[in-house]
Amino acid sequence: MDIQQIFKNNRQWAEDKLGADNNYFKKLASGQNSKILYIGCSDSRVSAEEMMGVAPGEVFVHRNIANMVPNNDLNSHSVLSYAVNHLEVDHIIVCGHYNCGGIKAAMIQQDFGILNPWLRNIRDVFRLHMEELRMITNEEQQYDRFVELNVQEQCINVIKTADVQKAILTRNITIHGWVFDIHTGRLVDLKIDFHKILEKIMEIYKIH
Ligand code: CO
Repeated sequence: MDIQQIFKNNRQWAEDKLGADNNYFKKLASGQNSKILYIGCSDSRVSAEEMMGVAPGEVFVHRNIANMVPNNDLNSHSVLSYAVNHLEVDHIIVCGHYNCGGIKAAMIQQDFGILNPWLRNIRDVFRLHMEELRMITNEEQQYDRFVELNVQEQCINVIKTADVQKAILTRNITIHGWVFDIHTGRLVDLKIDFHKILEKIMEIYKIH
């Protein structure tokens, strides 16, 4: 991709937007009203807004390698805190995807340098679910299930936070675990049973 082409594309995009609505950027500049937080993978094939069919201003987006919410990661937790306390989002989505390179790397016994601490968070998910994952002998199926279980664990990391627990007391916030199926382009709702999970984890993580 030629970098100059990006500027050409951008000019065309801005002109198209203004062509359809003369006040488009005036409205956009006046502020965002996102009621959805999306936490997804940085993978270039998983384009958050495009696959959800949402316009600028509609979804607050955070992306990193393997859609992680590590317990002591200031970046994802700042995004989460801002979304919950200031934007007052009603929905928090953690979206993984099949064929995720970050998940794959965590399955390989190899030194990845600066990536090691990040990957350790993903390896911890494998350890937590080792019994189930080791039962799956087909490597592709194990890989897919690992992607799903990682989404589930990152949803749990969201629930563990004081911001989310306090906000849930005052309003309805729904947490969603999704996977983008890169083979079909479809979003799959993992339908994670949060009530069941909450019962189990709140004994340990309840902080209000
Ligand atoms: Co990925």
